[in-house]
Amino acid sequence: MNVFISRVIPGIALELLQDAGYRVTQFTERRNMTRQELIQACKHNDALLSVGHEHLDKEFLEACSHLKVIALFSVGFDKVDVATATRLGIPVGNTPGVLSAATADTAFLLMLAVSRKAFHLHKKILRGQWNYYDPVANLGIELAGKTLGILGLGKIGYEMAKRCRGAYDMKVIYHNRKPNPTAEAELNATYVSFEELLSQSDVISVHTALTPDTKGLFNSSAFDKMRPNAIFINTARGGIHDEEALREALESGKIWGAGLDVTNPEPMAADNPLLQMPNTAILPHIGSATVESREAMARLAAENIIAGLQGKPLPSPVNPEVIVKNG
Ligand code: DGY
Repeated sequence: MNVFISRVIPGIALELLQDAGYRVTQFTERRNMTRQELIQACKHNDALLSVGHEHLDKEFLEACSHLKVIALFSVGFDKVDVATATRLGIPVGNTPGVLSAATADTAFLLMLAVSRKAFHLHKKILRGQWNYYDPVANLGIELAGKTLGILGLGKIGYEMAKRCRGAYDMKVIYHNRKPNPTAEAELNATYVSFEELLSQSDVISVHTALTPDTKGLFNSSAFDKMRPNAIFINTARGGIHDEEALREALESGKIWGAGLDVTNPEPMAADNPLLQMPNTAILPHIGSATVESREAMARLAAENIIAGLQGKPLPSPVNPEVIVKNG
């Protein structure tokens, strides 16, 4: 059987798939595949390892309904029409868990960078503006004992909360679809309403999935309710915040600053005004970009493909209700 990988990923995936007896083709050009190219490529393959958040919507899935399994090289599956995949009997797998620590590190890095205006001050040095020692300039704010509000306290949110407890003894509050008893027991986290999360947090870190319910959730009305010293961190999906509302909140001093690893659209345009603001820190969606995490993601994605092609349940299924096409 044949497997198609839509972008170059760590070699362990190829090794595992080839060792399992599959013929693997990889798209090696350094650009996004077009929709038609992806459909064409899938026509000659039994499984797709999809990298880079391709839109696997109804049109794509119906054109490729012969696929026996789709493995995503991501934990997020907001670009996949899971209901259609399920209806067509295509199991879809993702890569949760293995990237939680790296993504939480990114959120923590952004929080600290924003609190101390690190990206802005670095740019000042590059512009030749490190002139003399000014005791009342370049001041940041400290995080010790502050309140961390997590939106979406799952695996990544838990790791972020753990870091903030350990480093700064921050109080943890959270809002979720359902309570997280483990985090409550281990991190002394307190469940609050979304409104309380907005009004009580000194740092809000977003770790929820992009869904119709969370799309644009951080709009001007949400930023209005936040504290003037609040730091907004988003390492989940850019669609969860309204960029215009965020810029206005930053400009008017409604909040202290924002750290983003995700934007809408991605890539962010180089002339986006958010990049030049003194109170932002922006990274190019590198949450899981460590050697260790990317290798583990490649391994798990390959294991999802192998299980699907062998007619077994995927180790990490998005739609476990689909038994397996090949079973
Ligand atoms: C994910 O896994 O969903 C991350 O955003 C990396 O793409």
